[in-house]
Amino acid sequence: MAFPGTGKIWMNGSLVEWADAHVHIASHVIHYGSGVFEGARCYNTLNGPAVFRLDAHIRRLLDSAKIYRMDSPYDQAAISQAVVDLIKLNGFKACYIRPLIYRGYDSLGVNPFPCPVDVAIMLWEWGAYFTKEAIEEGLNVKISTWSRNAPNTMPAMAKSVANYANSQLIKMEAITEGYDEGIALDVDGNLSEGSGQNIFIVRDNTIYTPSLGSSILGGITRDSIITLARGLGYTVTESIVPREALYLADEVFFVGTAAEVTPVKSVDKITVGSGRRGPVTEALQRAFFDVINGKVPDTHGWLTYVYPEEAALRTPPLKAAGGKSR
Ligand SMILES: Cc1ncc(COP(=O)(O)O)c(C=O)c1O
Repeated sequence: MAFPGTGKIWMNGSLVEWADAHVHIASHVIHYGSGVFEGARCYNTLNGPAVFRLDAHIRRLLDSAKIYRMDSPYDQAAISQAVVDLIKLNGFKACYIRPLIYRGYDSLGVNPFPCPVDVAIMLWEWGAYFTKEAIEEGLNVKISTWSRNAPNTMPAMAKSVANYANSQLIKMEAITEGYDEGIALDVDGNLSEGSGQNIFIVRDNTIYTPSLGSSILGGITRDSIITLARGLGYTVTESIVPREALYLADEVFFVGTAAEVTPVKSVDKITVGSGRRGPVTEALQRAFFDVINGKVPDTHGWLTYVYPEEAALRTPPLKAAGGKSR
């Protein structure tokens, strides 16, 4: 969806009109991919707008920066507060949240240290990543000919802009060949993840997902789904998952901030299970959507309400349930 092109963007503590939020073409990030970022969502819950797992997202942002030896001039509390303030300022009820830490303008060369570390936060209104039908019917996906990065090359645990060169190759190949999405294997040929999503498979009611050692991003939705699944009584195993387990699965589904929980109905034109959303995927979708819509008490403290006083008035059990406010 094209940008609406309105609202304010937060840049190093200043509020800048969308149309004026420029960086110089000589900025280091443009030439050398020296940036790390986050993608989070604010949902319009029954109790008002709330950011899903804001703390976890900003923590991962700063972890990504640490791996790349970037000293952020803003700490976790300052960036989190800036996100909430920006949502209020722009008057959004639901939006996608994109904080970015990057090497800016000073000089060009592989050595990034002379360049300043800049921070920006942008928001925009963004609906479902896949279609509404896909949420129920599932996606057709292919195993990409592109692998994820080998260990000790580009760190998978860092959400670095540079990693998305690989993601783009996976996505473009899938689209060009008529699929909805691509799945990458790691360098050993085991399952890794989608171009921008983590992946789960279900067989005989047990849930499996590749572990951090399979060159995946440690997804925050992945972590949430593991927690919800265990809460529903499922066994969830994080392990090496061979490619062929996809073909033999009863269910396969993607998870991510953008993808939320989206079933996969075929892999390499081999039908997965019944060829549509399975019962475990549906149960986890429901559990996830109930949390992000504020339909159930926020027992895990995953929601940061933008207007906590209003949220508390609307849901008396919220405080007891441990809902966070900022
Ligand atoms: C490569 C990749 N894997 C997994 C994910 C899912 O992570 P999260 O659930 O934190 O959005 C994303 C989305 O950011 C991603 O880009």
